[in-house]
Amino acid sequence: MNDDKLTYFIETFGCQMNDRDSQTIGGLLEQAGFSPAEDPLDADVVVVNTCAVRQSAEDKVWSRLGQLAYECRSGNVPVIVLAGCMAQLPQTINRIKQKAPYVSVAVGPGHIHRIPELVHQVLEEPSARLVTAVAPSRTEAHRTESTQMLPEELPRIKVPGVSAYVTIMYGCDNFCSYCIVPFVRGPQVSREPRFIMREVEALVNQGYAEIYLLGQNVNAYGLDLDNETGFAQLLESIDGIPGIQRIRYATSHPRDFTKDMVDTIKRASHICEHFHLPLQSGSNRILKQMHRGYTREDYMELVQYIKEQVPGASVTTDIIVGFPGETDEDFEDTLDLIEQLRLDGAFTFIYSPRAGTAAARMANQIPRKVKSDRLQALVKVQNEITQDINKSLIGTIQEVLIEEPDLRNPQYYRGRTRTNKLVVCTSEGPRPGDLVKVRIEQAGTWHLKGPVPEAGQD
Ligand code: SAH
Ligand code: SF4
Ligand code: F3S
Repeated sequence: MNDDKLTYFIETFGCQMNDRDSQTIGGLLEQAGFSPAEDPLDADVVVVNTCAVRQSAEDKVWSRLGQLAYECRSGNVPVIVLAGCMAQLPQTINRIKQKAPYVSVAVGPGHIHRIPELVHQVLEEPSARLVTAVAPSRTEAHRTESTQMLPEELPRIKVPGVSAYVTIMYGCDNFCSYCIVPFVRGPQVSREPRFIMREVEALVNQGYAEIYLLGQNVNAYGLDLDNETGFAQLLESIDGIPGIQRIRYATSHPRDFTKDMVDTIKRASHICEHFHLPLQSGSNRILKQMHRGYTREDYMELVQYIKEQVPGASVTTDIIVGFPGETDEDFEDTLDLIEQLRLDGAFTFIYSPRAGTAAARMANQIPRKVKSDRLQALVKVQNEITQDINKSLIGTIQEVLIEEPDLRNPQYYRGRTRTNKLVVCTSEGPRPGDLVKVRIEQAGTWHLKGPVPEAGQD
């Protein structure tokens, strides 16, 4: 610990968007004179960047906050900042006031640039009540135009690794009926292309091999801007940046993924052949109630087009089981579609009611046991498919971007194929940032394994 400087520690929950925001929070605190602490218990300021997408995500945050407060009881209690999506929920603010008075600051995702100022406020007046900076609350009926866009050119800490996140848009306007994100992240606002290009160029110049573009619905990028740039044009421009090795993006919305975008990806050199297309359900009835705006037939057509146009592409998905009113037949439709599609992988979730969303108000909430049985059945089917697909890659040569040493066997390295499959390289040669060819010799559900052939072999 540095004696003459105040220190900070950030703990991040939730999605890549929060990981990216935490880099900005770190950058801002360092710009304000704080230095990073090795351990939260040594820090003067602990920022907990939170997620509200499911109840389990919120529970994790509350239990971590309780633990922090307990551990800090003997020593100096740091300034605890609750940042991110949970801070936008009125019930979070109430609960802090009633049960978690050790939280000093609550700041929503659109106000993280104010963290240093808010922390100073608390340091100057430690006994003050909770300090908050949040956007006006948003409801479906009252979709305030108060955006949660951050100012441009905020500092960010440089994180180790080969991949750098770039937020291309904030918020979401879709109001899928189960989802809290539009409420906590505000309306969709796209960043101006010139700012995105400048940020990507700077990251590539710093040596990041992979650029990961982030937004809640990247396919709708630019629709809220006056200029002509949509997602396809943005991808094309970024693909042309000298020195860039790989481009990834998340998350896509099947309704807004146009053929034009697929064609751009096919033509481009650096955009990875991995399509993450959240399906959510295979039942048209449920899809309609989720307000997803596509049918299972539309989804199948999109996947088919991708497979035809981009040979070797991988496709992954997200599925929610136990949406209100989901019958056995609806769930069978999901299983059936998953069996037909044979996707490379799926993130599977048990539906979690989120206060304020339309689905939380629906009748016929599904009992816990039914939900968990459905999840198990779905995971079993998908894991077998994933394993089959991965096994079919045995004997092939894959281009792998090396990321980091493998935790269990530090002499080996982990990396990813362009199709986003994890590969453990069983040779000692490569280093993070290297693009190597790996001959796949083993395959399971979670990773592929194989040696980097010696020069002259293969
Ligand atoms: N904008 C992205 C990410 C949303 S959150 C998208 O549209 O895909 C990531 C995933 O969490 C979603 O795809 C969905 O499958 C899941 N999810 C969202 N709300 C949920 C809820 N209330 N209960 C369970 N899973 C949920
Ligand atoms: Fe949520 Fe739907 Fe927006 Fe994704 S597109 S963040 S699931 S409302
Ligand atoms: Fe969670 Fe907010 Fe991301 S709710 S999933 S951290 S946008």
